[in-house]
Amino acid sequence: MAMIALKAPDIKVTVVDMNASRIAAWDSDALPVYEPGLDEVVKQCRGRNLFFSTDVTGGIREADIIFVSVNTPTKTYGMGAGRAADLRHVESVARTIAAVSEGSKIIVEKSTVPVKTAETIKTILGANTNGLKFSVLSNPEFLAEGTAVSDMLNPDRVLIGGERTPEGERAVQTLAAIYARWVPRERIITTNLWSSELSKLVANAFLAQRISSINSISALCEATGADVDEVAHAIGCDSRIGPKFLKASVGFGGSCFQKDILNLVYLCERFGLPEVASYWRHVVSMNDYQKSRFAQRIVSGLFNTVAGKRIAVLGFAFKKDTNDTRESAAIHVCRDLLAEQGVVVVYDPRVPASEIVSDVLGKNAPANPRLSVAGSACEACNGAHAVAILTEWDEFKTLDFQKIHDAMPKPALLFDGRNILDLAKLKKIGFRVHGIGRTPE
Ligand SMILES: NC(=O)c1ccc[n+]([C@@H]2O[C@H](COP(=O)([O-])OP(=O)(O)OC[C@H]3O[C@@H](n4cnc5c(N)ncnc54)[C@H](O)[C@@H]3O)[C@@H](O)[C@H]2O)c1
Repeated sequence: MAMIALKAPDIKVTVVDMNASRIAAWDSDALPVYEPGLDEVVKQCRGRNLFFSTDVTGGIREADIIFVSVNTPTKTYGMGAGRAADLRHVESVARTIAAVSEGSKIIVEKSTVPVKTAETIKTILGANTNGLKFSVLSNPEFLAEGTAVSDMLNPDRVLIGGERTPEGERAVQTLAAIYARWVPRERIITTNLWSSELSKLVANAFLAQRISSINSISALCEATGADVDEVAHAIGCDSRIGPKFLKASVGFGGSCFQKDILNLVYLCERFGLPEVASYWRHVVSMNDYQKSRFAQRIVSGLFNTVAGKRIAVLGFAFKKDTNDTRESAAIHVCRDLLAEQGVVVVYDPRVPASEIVSDVLGKNAPANPRLSVAGSACEACNGAHAVAILTEWDEFKTLDFQKIHDAMPKPALLFDGRNILDLAKLKKIGFRVHGIGRTPE
């Protein structure tokens, strides 16, 4: 929304959310999400044509176009629990729109939703409004956290799905014209509603599948002496495969990949396609395996016991350049190490200590004296038996590893869960090194 406000100064954009503290943060100097370049964009537009408000109904009443961008988490109860998307927020917004609208509007599904959600929204609107006309569009968001601003400035494509009726086509063109302020027309793809909804789930499933594929090979590399980065490079040079998204790691995290694949799995089950469901479910299983495999390697590297040993965990966000920790692999690794009675000290440049603690232990859980948060990487590593890199923050590449090694009991172990360090160099310093898909030489 900030990008639309930036590129279309004549359009008034009002972001409404019932979470008052979030809205207050968006209106302050400390935005609730860390995203490179976003502060400048928001500062440029806020108060000009970008506004933040908790007046949800007022915002809806005033708008010609409504982007529904609410959360669609995995359902935790009832039918489809653990797989299906929980659409209660989407439905609640649809009902509010129906209740307070005084004129016709375009409703844009920006949230990631199961196929046919647009139909549900249309049905709810149709059943609750007197003669007002609503066009429902699907416009899934493909930005990646950490590079959101550049992704938005220069998207590979914008996807708009709409009904193939004159009214639907008009709505599609209205939305396309907004993006066309800065996105070349040939990158604005229009499809029918269901193709658009499904494409978002499939895009995330394919991306996650590439990570699980290379991660599965990393286990084989460790067993055989092959190097997964060399294998990734060699296969990525094949133009049919391509080099991107082939980096082996401790496992993918983030709020979307797992949730969207599970959602796809549930759709396949519901439409009577158990083989297809099972195929995609394995992408998530492989990711779970990779996370627990990493924790197991730390335990076995430390002579099969971490009880009472200090382990420095560097990085907690699910990837660099974001403060988002949802589904971060670091959460699972920390929990596994605590379960083994390890003493875990975490450092992350962007995630607040309180969030790290509540992510690992659970909200409002009593403190665990074996879990703490350090103010710097060096502080976390001081006296640690092992250092584990969980997020690929750039600052970890240039740490003074000689100094870190000097302050650790020996043998000092280093586990690079992101393959960002020069293991040969670290080995020369004296570390026992472990990378993902790389055997310690
Ligand atoms: N985070 C991403 O990178 C990303 C990328 C692409 C798509 N998506 C999709 O976008 C959607 C939102 O993701 P997010 O990460 O921003 O989630 P989020 O949980 O951070 O934000 C959702 C917001 O919606 C608000 N909300 C919920 N119900 C509401 C209601 N009835 N009225 C007003 N506000 C309401 C919540 O208070 C919350 O602040 C999801 O469907 C997600 O899959 C996210």
